[in-house]
Amino acid sequence: MTAITSPTTTSGTLPGTAAHEAASSPDRTPTARHYLMCRPTYFDVVYEINPWMDLGVPVDGARAVRQWERLKAAYEAHGHRVEVIDPVPGLPDMVYAANGGVVAGGRSLAARFTYPERQPEGAAYEAWFAAAGALGFASLGQATEQNEGEGDLLLAGDVMLAGTGFRTSRAAHAEVADLLGVEVLTLELVDPRYYHLDTALAVLDTGTTPATIAYLPEAFSPASQAVLAERYPDAILATPEDAAVLGLNVVSDGRHVFLTDRATGLHDQLRRRGFDPVGVDLSELLKGGGSVKCCTLELRPAATTTTQEAHA
Ligand code: ARG
Repeated sequence: MTAITSPTTTSGTLPGTAAHEAASSPDRTPTARHYLMCRPTYFDVVYEINPWMDLGVPVDGARAVRQWERLKAAYEAHGHRVEVIDPVPGLPDMVYAANGGVVAGGRSLAARFTYPERQPEGAAYEAWFAAAGALGFASLGQATEQNEGEGDLLLAGDVMLAGTGFRTSRAAHAEVADLLGVEVLTLELVDPRYYHLDTALAVLDTGTTPATIAYLPEAFSPASQAVLAERYPDAILATPEDAAVLGLNVVSDGRHVFLTDRATGLHDQLRRRGFDPVGVDLSELLKGGGSVKCCTLELRPAATTTTQEAHA
């Protein structure tokens, strides 16, 4: 598939609701993206490092793989390119590829994980990035500071929104600003259920100024809530109900927003703002504390003169 399409058939959690009814919202222009994913071959819950993980709740591994395959197929059906990294036995959380690092401007920085259980993933992702030169990505190696990649580092146009409080450290934010040469806006997370920034905040459209985002205010400290309200006055404010099914853990191409089919209120909010929600079922991956975005690392190429044309 070469073209980006705007299907109305895949946005399926609210039958009968037209995907294009938001006539007054801005035109949302999808752009072709490049993603890295990791098949959940060895996915399981064998330790508890966030409140979602419960050793008493069994994981259906085969079902996890089927759900993951449908997510990958949904990206490809919308014209996006997906790379895969080989899963490593004994690293059950490696499916959450967003945590593997951050890639911006054609340069990659591999993660340095907080918990010993996940630390070997840093080297696995670093090795993949090092071999990705052929795809046009230059590796900056592994972060020296505690850094969980796109779990906490969400590029919103030319500013990197950076979460801290549970995983990625403030020192890591400074390291990212330095190595990737981007402005970093530190945001403090305060609710252990929303331990990574990508569980509490979604970047939806970087073609607007400022970027269009959605977030759950109460997941942030009062000071960070004030910063968000000031910088993003038009943001979508998610409900606690939608956040509690990890509805904010989305991937957006600027128009199509891939997210759990359980976040029905957020689907409506997105439609009203001109987005096309694409609902997916990732109920098995939710048992590890992750959803769509957690399973997806965006590989952002070096800037070219043509990609931003639509919004110039
Ligand atoms: N079990 C994983 C952890 O606690 C889940 C990671 C989810 N990833 C994310 N990008 N939020 O580290």
